[in-house]
Amino acid sequence: MALIGSVPRRCVNLPPGSLRTLASCVIGGRVQDGPALEEFRKKLGEWLGIPHVFGASAGRSAFQLALEALGLQDGAEIIFPIFTFPVIPMVAKMLGYEPVFCEVDPETFNSGPEHIAPKITAKTGAILATHLFGQPCPIGEVVALARTRGIRVVEDCAHACGVRVGGKQVGTFGDIGVFSFAEGKNMPCFGGGAIATADDDIARRARDILAKAPIPAKDTLTKKAFSIWMKWLLTRPFMFGVTAYPVLRLKLLLGQQLMDSAVGNELLGQFMDTNPRVSRLSNLQAAIGLLQLKHIDAFNEGARHNARVLTERLGEVPNVKAPRSLEGDHIYVYYPLTVDPAKRDDLRHYLLRYGIDSKTTDMADCTTLSPFLKAGDKENKRNGPSEASILEICVYPVISENKMLRIARAIRAWAGLPKS
Ligand SMILES: Cc1ncc(COP(=O)(O)O)c(C=O)c1O
Repeated sequence: MALIGSVPRRCVNLPPGSLRTLASCVIGGRVQDGPALEEFRKKLGEWLGIPHVFGASAGRSAFQLALEALGLQDGAEIIFPIFTFPVIPMVAKMLGYEPVFCEVDPETFNSGPEHIAPKITAKTGAILATHLFGQPCPIGEVVALARTRGIRVVEDCAHACGVRVGGKQVGTFGDIGVFSFAEGKNMPCFGGGAIATADDDIARRARDILAKAPIPAKDTLTKKAFSIWMKWLLTRPFMFGVTAYPVLRLKLLLGQQLMDSAVGNELLGQFMDTNPRVSRLSNLQAAIGLLQLKHIDAFNEGARHNARVLTERLGEVPNVKAPRSLEGDHIYVYYPLTVDPAKRDDLRHYLLRYGIDSKTTDMADCTTLSPFLKAGDKENKRNGPSEASILEICVYPVISENKMLRIARAIRAWAGLPKS
């Protein structure tokens, strides 16, 4: 039963027609360059409601493009939320800026003006407003604070593509919005990323930077696309049940690691080994992006619905806190449960035996990582979220409501509560 009805930790969300588009780009020699690039830029800009959009090869490359196009003073401080994807402050450090970390709200995982304002100094050049796990931060207030101090705002929308606050898309509030189209996000395009801006000067500089930037090799793009398509196939719930799930069960039985990706210092080491630079989005990725734009709002609505099903049933579960939704139309790209760190793995293993895979988080308290240790000393002793307390559940709409109910029942049973 668990084998067939099992739930993967993440599903790759590829739209219908992706394989056909991939095949036609490969056969037609349009993997790197082609007409989809301009069209995607235009359509993404229209959907976001912003005049300028530029593609990049990944979210991190888009963030590098954003910082290079902003052209802050050398050595300027950039304020980041302490709990985030650590590659992003690493990009800032690599470019010669000084990452400074501010607290986050333990309920929403995001930073607001009350966390950011105490970190502002005469050297602050920018604030990174991150919309973590698909929930918008209080972006209107963050931008208002930054404007009074002449500070730039870059929005990290890697988890929040399609989130609106008061009807306006995130990524269009600050000076630049940064998006990721990686396989684990809600709008994967066989990888890729983008920036969005309404500022003509930033747009001009971004265009100049991209004009000199390389595009990944055709073979690299094609191999990556086929491997992501395979992951799409293997994360369909039925396929997952007969392929990866039995392997995970065996690993659990043998007391082995559950196929977790590199995080923390290891992730940063791997990133720096890639010799990071700005590189361009490909025609193949843009063509998938055009397909994604037709589906993404409905997809986000489906994830929101599934998250609601779970949240409604996890209200009073001891040692487990469901994510709280306070701002805008939270889309739950990941659904992070906060669990007592001493019990987190026990819950994970229990769920896996019950057919439900879950994921430890790629986010980290950055001040615990080697490149940022200095930024974390003294005043940053904290009691906010940490990677050890998070368990991410997949709530993508490919998972049926019945399965969401089963996940809720399993979590309740683990905590010794009645199942509904
Ligand atoms: C919050 C956040 N920002 C940015 C990124 C970078 O995106 P990419 O993996 O496309 O480089 C990620 C990736 O996981 C992320 O989680």
